[in-house]
Amino acid sequence: MTYYPLNDFGPVMKGMVIGGLGIFHVFLAQFAIGGGMLMCYLQWLAMRRPKVTSPAIDPHSQLFRAFLDSYFKTLVLISFVLGALTGVAMWFTTIQVSARTIGVMVDEFHWIWATEWTFFCLEIVSGYTFYRYGKGLTDRARMTLLVLYSIAAWFSLFWINGILSWQLTPALGQPGSLWANFFNPSFWPSLFFRTVVSMTIAALAGCVVVNTMSEIGREERTVLINRMAHFLGAMVVMPLLAWWYFSVIPADSRQWVMGGSIAMTLFFMVSAGASLLIGGYAVMALIKQRLYINGATATLLLALAFAATGGGEFVREGVRKPYTIRGALYSNSIVPDEVAHLRNVGLTTDDPYPLRDAQAYPNNQLRLGAMVFRDQCSVCHTMDGANALVHLAGSWTLDQKRLNFAKLQHLKTFMPPFVGNAHELEAVVQLVTWNADNRPTDWPDTSQTAPFTEIERYLEQAGTGSGLSTLPPHTNSADRLTRAATGPQ
Ligand code: HEC
Repeated sequence: MTYYPLNDFGPVMKGMVIGGLGIFHVFLAQFAIGGGMLMCYLQWLAMRRPKVTSPAIDPHSQLFRAFLDSYFKTLVLISFVLGALTGVAMWFTTIQVSARTIGVMVDEFHWIWATEWTFFCLEIVSGYTFYRYGKGLTDRARMTLLVLYSIAAWFSLFWINGILSWQLTPALGQPGSLWANFFNPSFWPSLFFRTVVSMTIAALAGCVVVNTMSEIGREERTVLINRMAHFLGAMVVMPLLAWWYFSVIPADSRQWVMGGSIAMTLFFMVSAGASLLIGGYAVMALIKQRLYINGATATLLLALAFAATGGGEFVREGVRKPYTIRGALYSNSIVPDEVAHLRNVGLTTDDPYPLRDAQAYPNNQLRLGAMVFRDQCSVCHTMDGANALVHLAGSWTLDQKRLNFAKLQHLKTFMPPFVGNAHELEAVVQLVTWNADNRPTDWPDTSQTAPFTEIERYLEQAGTGSGLSTLPPHTNSADRLTRAATGPQ
């Protein structure tokens, strides 16, 4: 077992720190991708001749150009600046929460990340060049830059999508094959789905931008909004793509969404409901009736798109539990194959990192409990903040806690099995009880008196495997990943 220092974010659950930031980042990044496509479309509209025989260009040509420049300014400000900042922040937080997961991902996809970054650089350079010089360039040169920008932006999605989708559906049966893992079962549905989402966000942002342009009149705005509606039309394939996605992910992950986990189901419904509202509005009002859309409505729709993205990302991250890399690494950075060994030697025995505020605990057993909690539970639970153990188990008797903590993976199959020995388990039980009792300064140490034979029996019964019944066989095939996670011995 390799240990890394972990940060503590107080009452905020660690998983939520990454998730919350991730939602912003994904939304902004997808805006940048869809925005590129939308601007290519506008530039094409500005350049085209409506009839092949007519030498005249589109009467709205100048309007499209003006809108494009206005749109691009928003895109640069919001997406370049905030998108890049949140992107860096993602790296910064993931290494504090799950260094091992990131380690395996970097190890497995080293050159893919590098490739992704070159595309990102191209995106920034072409985008910035357009921003700085776009107005003075010929139509052709403008188009070239925009196409370059869009391709680069879309391809950074392409590369990153392979890595993210792999976390849920790794091709564990084919060790050694980078491309089998990259083009994993959920690669294509999630790539197409995200592309359509990007177009949706871009078009809705476009509707907001149209309404901020004071220099154009209502009629011109309507022309532009009708164009945005064309882009929104892509949403009709979303249900199909979602169905495709859900049909390729593992059955247990699908079950969380279909009622197996209330939180997952709710977030999925928020996401699907918000998408349906946007899609319904786009089809009924914008496309069929060619309605105008004002700034407030456009902003509301964009907020709905944000909710849809948030719900969707939450579900995508959530259904992977209890893994960050399915079958190969648990959410708490413990490799499945290590569990049996750590049951014997103890989880914290080799943990070199000192406990924060060690003097705040009245005895050594509670300190041990705090270490076990930190190493094993804290990625998904806090003690008394979000998803708090005190709220979930505070009212249980000592024996209920012992039994249930020993059988975590059966209690809720999205939890990994308990890792560590009976003494460590008892220490967490005491820690939760002490916290539920409002942390008195005096607390009995039960490390001689607790029913350890009983606890060992509970652990024995629970076994060391995951609680999922539909898990792919990970032994052998996941060996390579296990090696990557365990590092050089
Ligand atoms: C992969 C994330 C994850 C890890 C790691 C994890 N849990 Fe959980 N646990 C959850 C989730 C999610 C719930 C469901 C919370 C709810 O129902 O509101 C939960 C629920 C619980 C419950 C309540 C179960 C019930 O049936 O009411 C207990 C007790 C619990 N966890 C204890 C622990 C302990 C102790 C650890 C560490 C040894 C741990 N968990 C590690 C995700 C995790």
